Amino acid sequence: MYREGQATAIQRADYSAPAYWIDTVDLCFDLDPAKTRVLNRMFLRRNPEVPAQPLKLDGDELNLARVLVNGQGTSFKIEGTQLVLDNLPDAFELEIFTTCCPAKNTKLMGLYVSNDSFFTQCEAEGFRRITYFLDRPDVMASYSVTLRADKAKYPVLLSNGNLVAHGPLEDGRHFAKWVDPHRKPCYLFALVAGQLVAREQRILSRAGKEHLLQVYVRAGDLDKTEHAMNSLMHAVAWDEARFGLALDLERFMIVATSDFNMGAMENKGLNIFNTKYVLANQATATDTDYSNIESVVGHEYFHNWTGDRVTCRDWFQLSLKEGLTVFRDQEFSQDLAGEASARAVKRIEDVRLLRTAQFPEDAGPMAHPVRPDSYIEINNFYTVTVYEKGAEVVRMMQTLVGRAGFARGLTLYFERHDGHAVTCDDFAQAIADANPGSALATLLPQFKRWYSQAGTPRLHASGTYDAQARTYTLAVSQSCPPTPGQPPKEPFVIPMGVGLLGQDGQELPLQLAGEAAPVPGQRTLVITQATETLTFVGVDAEPVPSILRGFTAPVVLEFDYSDAQLLTLLAHDSDPFNRWEAGQRLALRRAIKSIAATAYPAGATALDDAYIEAMRSVLRHPLLDAAFKELVLTLPSETYIAEQLDVVDPQRIHAVREAMRAQLAHALADDWQWAYETHRDSGAYRPDPVSSGRRALAGMALANLCLVAQGSGPSASSGQASVWPGKAYQRFKDAGNMTDRLNALSALVSSGHALAAQALPRFHALFKDDALVLDKWFALQAGAPDRDGNVLPAVRQLMKHPDFTLRNPNRARSLIFSYCSANPGGFHRADAAGYVFWSERVMELDGFNPQVAARLARALDRWTKLAEPYRSAAREAIVRVAAKPDLSNDVREVVSRALA
Ligand code: ARG
Ligand code: ZN
Repeated sequence: MYREGQATAIQRADYSAPAYWIDTVDLCFDLDPAKTRVLNRMFLRRNPEVPAQPLKLDGDELNLARVLVNGQGTSFKIEGTQLVLDNLPDAFELEIFTTCCPAKNTKLMGLYVSNDSFFTQCEAEGFRRITYFLDRPDVMASYSVTLRADKAKYPVLLSNGNLVAHGPLEDGRHFAKWVDPHRKPCYLFALVAGQLVAREQRILSRAGKEHLLQVYVRAGDLDKTEHAMNSLMHAVAWDEARFGLALDLERFMIVATSDFNMGAMENKGLNIFNTKYVLANQATATDTDYSNIESVVGHEYFHNWTGDRVTCRDWFQLSLKEGLTVFRDQEFSQDLAGEASARAVKRIEDVRLLRTAQFPEDAGPMAHPVRPDSYIEINNFYTVTVYEKGAEVVRMMQTLVGRAGFARGLTLYFERHDGHAVTCDDFAQAIADANPGSALATLLPQFKRWYSQAGTPRLHASGTYDAQARTYTLAVSQSCPPTPGQPPKEPFVIPMGVGLLGQDGQELPLQLAGEAAPVPGQRTLVITQATETLTFVGVDAEPVPSILRGFTAPVVLEFDYSDAQLLTLLAHDSDPFNRWEAGQRLALRRAIKSIAATAYPAGATALDDAYIEAMRSVLRHPLLDAAFKELVLTLPSETYIAEQLDVVDPQRIHAVREAMRAQLAHALADDWQWAYETHRDSGAYRPDPVSSGRRALAGMALANLCLVAQGSGPSASSGQASVWPGKAYQRFKDAGNMTDRLNALSALVSSGHALAAQALPRFHALFKDDALVLDKWFALQAGAPDRDGNVLPAVRQLMKHPDFTLRNPNRARSLIFSYCSANPGGFHRADAAGYVFWSERVMELDGFNPQVAARLARALDRWTKLAEPYRSAAREAIVRVAAKPDLSNDVREVVSRALA
């Protein structure tokens, strides 16, 4: 087998159009796990717009048997991984016959076997593992696909498009022929073969067209497909209602597999999903699972237009489809959530993800622009930057042109580019052109710096009140820290939602200097300069500014709020995002102060009465939603706290945050009890925002009550508190749904109570046949708060559990990633044992699944910020991985950037 040497980086600037076009592809598969035969008949045409050159087709781990041009044998060369053909006519038929081994495909890219069924994953570059091809997204062809396989083992045979023929063959085999009516790039090709059953639903579009929706799963999982099907129906209706985008297929299929590298894949008409984002019933799935399923089903469905109908010219444009489609799925979930307060909860959750995952990425060695300039392995660029920051960039466009203007822009985008492979520039241009005179149209070149410049901008603001002039002046400045390869940055276009509150918390009308009259309520100002001043006139008393309402831009806002101002915002801001943000700022400030204190005796108090009373008011508030309360009462994560510090001592952060958690538990013990009693019963299970919010708050209350019982202090010793672990255990046994059950179990585990040792095996016994629930069982233990270094030995022990396997990506994520990437207190050990464990697992995974290995490798992205002894130990572990001789390009790119 050929192995590439040191891989070189691919540059965005080097793009050139393909030398050939592929018009049609006729694929014929003889499916066999050990040796699948693939006959690929294509019609190709020279691209007259580029100089004549040989045809170079990509291939990977293929056995080549035969190549025919116009039915005749031909000479060819293999250069590296490419099949090279010279002296070709301008238009010709090319026939390529290859074989591959799906059973040994542990990378889960290309054609592979999972639970005795066949699946494919072609994005980004998996199609070349199926046949030789121009494996690039700007080559769009019409596909017809014939699948042949043993009928008993593989009764269901699926591919993209419409089923046009099927029937028996000799020797117990059968066939199915599929024709996709839409041209597509090869990364959207898919096939599935196996013993599957489907939930079916016929729907009528607004135009009166009938469509068949199907969700395919393994027999026995059918009772877990209702929510996915409902989500799909909602998604179809939503895209038609909000953007006028109708389903363009007679049949739309979703198939679930338990072996999948990522979340799901938008193959045209045949989406393939990780079971995690399909299967749910109330006994096995949590509220979070239900809402993730809704958004991922929506996401993949929305790709049918934003991705499939209009696709990417090259992989540097990945955010063209991903940023836009994440934005669309976020909007979908918000619209489905309904009420303003439920929409705000979703927005806060999205921002929390952005700030805890994307901001660190943008400040670390893997920082890259939303539209990257170079990569070694494209799989490493399916990132929170391309997805979530990309979605924020699209959101800012909508903010600048308005909701209706944005919908107009999307319509123009499809008018111009339907059926084509285009760029991020094309998208931004269409939105701007549909909104002439808008801030986006006027500022477009500058706005597009969001695509080209990496790093999280800092927006610094300070306010001055002039009582005599009755003016309030906001001085605003922006800067952006250097990122790899981009030392200086130019100013960004920053939409900034602003409101002013009076000292009593009332919203003030806003009038900028030079304006004729005040405008009631908040407004969005657009910052474009490095420094700017905004003067509000007619302000009778010093106001409390509410800045960056709704998180209108993906920036860090620095404003030197007093505690009193933050308490006013927390109590009164009409913008729920900033109301939540005020609580986070209060907590963060206290955490940072305690972390910095030279001596931090165990049991010392980080939280003062003002903060605790403010939290009590939120918890007891008669009007606020339970879901919102739960968000406000959740302390900033250890990861988020770490990002605010120049030098990070993870153990100190962990200790301080745990102490804050315990203090909040004790101080509000009566309130937690009240919250638990009043929210614990939410009636018949429904995963809607209101009842899931109630369950979330009840779960949080129970966790706090168990913490009180475990801790020392006045409330713990009283007989009152000690009943809670027993109640939690009872709840764990009786719960009518997985959310309540897992919350109760988690309350026992995270408080470190002895009953956890009884509950965990019981939980395992109950769900031993449900892989997704076992993932939760592993994840809960790997993510438990560390006590005297107890988590790592537990994780090592769990690796020996008969249900553990590193080969299944979900299982690997549940145990290994939960520990290395989501449990800083357990992972960053002074004895370096966490890092040693990490390096072992990265290298082990890399032996069979480099894509998953490279994700795990990212766990030490921020090593340079660590205090000693962590920093040196982390570096040593990365160096150890980098020194492995046969490392994949995937992991090599991550570790070499980390060490650069
Ligand atoms: N396009 C898919 C999605 O966003 C993700 C596919 C990622 N695949 C990969 N090999 N990196 O839903
Ligand atoms: Zn996507």
